[in-house]
Amino acid sequence: MKKLEDLDLTDKLVLIRADLNVPLDRERKITETHRIERFLPTLRYILQNGGRAVVMSHLGRPLGRYDPACSLAPIAQKLGELLQSEVKLAPDCIGPETEAIARQLGRGQTLLLENLRFHAGERTNDPAFASRLAKLGQVYVNDAFATAHRAHASVVGVARHFQHKAPGLLMQKELEFHARFLVQPKRPLCVILGGIKTAGQLHALLKISEQADKVIMGGSIANTFLAAQGVQMGHSVYEPELFSKVLELLGHLMRRGCKTYLPVDFRIGNSPKSKGIARDVTAQELPPETMALDIGPATSILYDEAVKSAETIIWNGPMGIMDNDDYAQGTTDLIQSLAGAHGTTAAGGVDTVRAIRGMELQHRFDHISTGGTSLLSLLEGKQLPGFQALEKE
Ligand code: 3PG
Repeated sequence: MKKLEDLDLTDKLVLIRADLNVPLDRERKITETHRIERFLPTLRYILQNGGRAVVMSHLGRPLGRYDPACSLAPIAQKLGELLQSEVKLAPDCIGPETEAIARQLGRGQTLLLENLRFHAGERTNDPAFASRLAKLGQVYVNDAFATAHRAHASVVGVARHFQHKAPGLLMQKELEFHARFLVQPKRPLCVILGGIKTAGQLHALLKISEQADKVIMGGSIANTFLAAQGVQMGHSVYEPELFSKVLELLGHLMRRGCKTYLPVDFRIGNSPKSKGIARDVTAQELPPETMALDIGPATSILYDEAVKSAETIIWNGPMGIMDNDDYAQGTTDLIQSLAGAHGTTAAGGVDTVRAIRGMELQHRFDHISTGGTSLLSLLEGKQLPGFQALEKE
C-alpha cells in the first residue's frame, strides 16, 4: 500500500474521503469539532504539496435524498475557519455542476461536496454512483477512519477507479496505534462499552471476548444484559430482540474466564431530559415507571477498581446522558478513572470523545480515536473495507 507521502499531488485534483460526521445542536451549531480538527493535517499536507482538494463526507443518516437538516453547510464553514482559508460547498456530491466547480479549483484550494448520503448509492456501494464520484479526482485519499468499517461507495467502490491512492495521515495514526498496542495487547485487557449502539457492540463483543479479560458495560448494552437476565428495567432503553444473543454471549464470556461488569446501581429519572428528580437506586429496585439514565456511585467505584488493575483499556460509549448534567456523573467518574489509570488507555466515539474533551483530560489518554465502531472492529481483528480498498490491485 502506498503512503500519502508517495503520491504526486502537484496540480492534481485530490478526492479525499473524510469523516466529518460531527454532532450538531438544534440550531445546527457544531458541538464537537474533534473529527474536523483531526482531519486538518491531511488536508493541509495535500494543499501545501500543490493539491486541489475535493473533500467528501457523510453527516448523519439521511435516507438517500436531500434533507436540509443534514446539509454540510455548517461543516464547510467550520472547516474554512479552522483551515483559515475559504472552503466552498458544492451543491451536490456528483453531477456536471459539481464537476465543473471542481475543475476550476486552483492549487491549494478546497471544495467540500454536499452529503454523500443524499444518494442511496452511497450506502449500497452502487458502482454507477462510485464512478460518478471518481470523476471528481485524479488521486484518491481515504482519511475517514470512523467510516472505514462501512463498505460504502465513497470508501470502497470509488477506490477501484484510482491507481494512485493512499490513506491519509489520520488513518495512518489510527492504524499505527492499533498495530502497536492492540494486536498483542498487554494484559489484563479491559473493554468498556456504553452509549446506545447496542446491536453493533454486541456483534463486536462476541469476537472481542476471545481476547478481553474484562468487559465493563454501561448505557443501553448494560440495560439489555440485565433485562435479558430477568432484571426489571422499567422504561429504560434496552433491546429485547437481542436477549437470546446476550444469553449466548454471557455463556461464552464465562467459559472464556472473561469477567463481566454490569451496573449494581443506577441514577434514575423519567426521561433523558428530566431535571431535578435524579436519585440513585440499586439495580434490583428500579421502579417500573422510571428509566436508568446513568450508572450510580457504587458502580463507579466498582468500575474504577476494574480499570485501575488493567494494563490496556479500550472505551467506546458514555455511561449516561452527556447532555444532561443530572445524568453525566457516571461518565465523568469513568473519565477520571481512566485518566488516573497506569495502563494504556484508548477512547473512541463522538460522545465519548466529547465528554473527555469537555473535561480537558484528552492528554491523559494514550489514544483518542475518531472512530467508535471502527475502533471496535479493529479490536475484533476485522479487516476494515476502507483500508483494504487502498491496497494495490
Ligand atoms: C460514526 O459516527 O460512527 C461514523 O461517522 C459512521 O457513521 P454511521 O454509523 O452512521 O455509519
